[in-house]
Amino acid sequence: MSTEATQSSALDTLGSETRTFPPPPEFVRQANVSDPSIYERADKDFEGFWAEHARTLTWRKPFTKVLEWEAPYAKWFADGQLNVTENCLDRHVQAGKGAKVAYYWEGEPGDKRVLTYQDLLEETQRCANALKELGVKKGDRVAIYMPMIPELPVAMLACARIGAPFTVVFGGFSAEALAGRIGDSEAKLVITADGGYRKGNVVPLKKNADDAIAQTSTVEKVLVVQRTKQEVAWTAGRDVWWHDIVPRQKADCPAEALDAEHMLYLLYTSGTTATPKGIVHTTAGYLTGVAATTKLIFDVKDHDVFWCAADIGWVTGHSYIVFGPLANGVTGVMYEGTPDFPDKDRWWSIIEQYKVSILYCAPTAIRTFMKWGSEYVQKHDMRSLRLLGSVGEPINPEAWLWYQQTIGGGRCPIVDTWWMTETGMILVSPLPGITTTKPGSATFSFPGVQADVVDEGGSSVPLGQAGYLVITRPWPAMLRGIYKDDERYRDTYWSKYPGRFFAGDGAKRDTDGYFWLMGRVDDVMKISGHRISTTEIESALVSHPKVAEAAVIGRDDPVTTQAIFAFVTLRGGNDSSDALSKELREHVVSKIGSIARPKTIMFTPELPKTRSGKIMRRLLRDIANGQPLGDTTTLADATVVETIRGSTGKEA
Ligand code: WTA
Repeated sequence: MSTEATQSSALDTLGSETRTFPPPPEFVRQANVSDPSIYERADKDFEGFWAEHARTLTWRKPFTKVLEWEAPYAKWFADGQLNVTENCLDRHVQAGKGAKVAYYWEGEPGDKRVLTYQDLLEETQRCANALKELGVKKGDRVAIYMPMIPELPVAMLACARIGAPFTVVFGGFSAEALAGRIGDSEAKLVITADGGYRKGNVVPLKKNADDAIAQTSTVEKVLVVQRTKQEVAWTAGRDVWWHDIVPRQKADCPAEALDAEHMLYLLYTSGTTATPKGIVHTTAGYLTGVAATTKLIFDVKDHDVFWCAADIGWVTGHSYIVFGPLANGVTGVMYEGTPDFPDKDRWWSIIEQYKVSILYCAPTAIRTFMKWGSEYVQKHDMRSLRLLGSVGEPINPEAWLWYQQTIGGGRCPIVDTWWMTETGMILVSPLPGITTTKPGSATFSFPGVQADVVDEGGSSVPLGQAGYLVITRPWPAMLRGIYKDDERYRDTYWSKYPGRFFAGDGAKRDTDGYFWLMGRVDDVMKISGHRISTTEIESALVSHPKVAEAAVIGRDDPVTTQAIFAFVTLRGGNDSSDALSKELREHVVSKIGSIARPKTIMFTPELPKTRSGKIMRRLLRDIANGQPLGDTTTLADATVVETIRGSTGKEA
């Protein structure tokens, strides 16, 4: 790792990028929005703007109130009632689009399924009736721990149909991580599969679910999809095969009319402590936000094939594989496995085969493809693509340009979209028929959304200077709190700048007012676009009997944005060794999941601390990045640094 590749210097290059890309005229001519006055209109009356979008939905009971804002809690369209699935399914079928494809699905081994809107509606209703038979009622929480198979969106939609809030747990999380989420949400039902395919291997989901449920007390039933067909343990009376209960249900389950603020789902995400937080999203505002952003940012049309290549276990999949595209009646693509199975051109073969017109993915993926080489892309016909999106991390200009040229053939606008689990929907992004883009910039806040960059004291910083990103007015898909933890909600997002949402991201605006996102400013890391907290990994490490202390930092990484670097101090009598380093890595995997496996572990006799005993993270970050060290005078024992620098990290 060269010192040039560190975060701060990467950001300097970001800021000095001067190339601009106006929207291509042929794109503008057909764009869903091409009149820049939308910004002014939405700004003048943002409630009116959102109400207009909300009215494009189908309501059981129309709303009369738009926004009630008692900071930090918003209610949108509060006296209205609707059902998300009626908007995502029934209304399209009723409009004669039942035969339209909702999902082209491809399993990693190459098996394929095509689900029309009619199929999806029927399967959702059958699943909803099965949930009822299993005792799930409106308001009960359901945990979903599944591979990327069609039954996953079906399960989410079935819950939404009967008003049972669901929480999807990413299939890469461990049993222990799943247990924490089941415990916090007090889920009554778990929906899982025997396994899922990943890189040619089977992920033992049912086994993990069994181990998780054994640590919890609320689960009454487990609904299991048969995907991989390996042997699984079975608890009679509790476990039910999907194929035994769902197909025999009636494909008719009337959608519940739900209050606009009824909880749609909980999604756990990492914060700065060891416990993930349950982000609460509700019904009408969320749907309005994701439907509007899908339409205006991804410019979706009836003929489009939209592939958001995220996993549904993350918010990107919730909003832009499931609810946003389905609300717009769009055809989507779902793929179960990894991009290099069986070969490194899997994505491009999917694009060619289904004539994907819109691709949405993370910069890590793009940088990986760059590394693999453009020959994999060139083997395939990519001319169906017309728009490209990026999400999850800052995209460096080099990757942006490669994406634009090699994937997009130079003709596709790129939308670099900034948002978070908490925001529910994209908040900062180009509008592809309006915005002149700059490689590496997410450009401007979405119409009706107001963002600012402020200094420590909360004053707006002048253009050209860096600060913290804040959102200064409520938006419809915003989180409605942290589940069962009002204090943490207020503390995390609203206490630093009262009345303004603190995102936890560094940002700057250039002299043209463009936003440049600069990464997290807290202890949250982005590893290949996945959000993980340093504290969570530290607490996993210190739960190992041989570990006395641990400090984890995100080391800058050219492909994965950050890589996990752990400094570990052992308890007396234990010697560092490759074997122990491996054992600790696997220990972290068992506590959290493989996405949290440290790349480097550095054993050190002590951690550098201030006199008050605080670990000096900035210093450790500098050491991990091979940076010259800054001021170390606050160190309790200055020799510690030299000792650490003398040690060598053990790479995975
Ligand atoms: C980062 C993902 C730069 C950011 C949707 C944010 C981005 C965190 C971008 C949220 C972007 C997301 N440019 N950084 N376009 N999009 N981020 O909750 O640091 O997994 O705070 O949601 O991702 O991650 P989360």
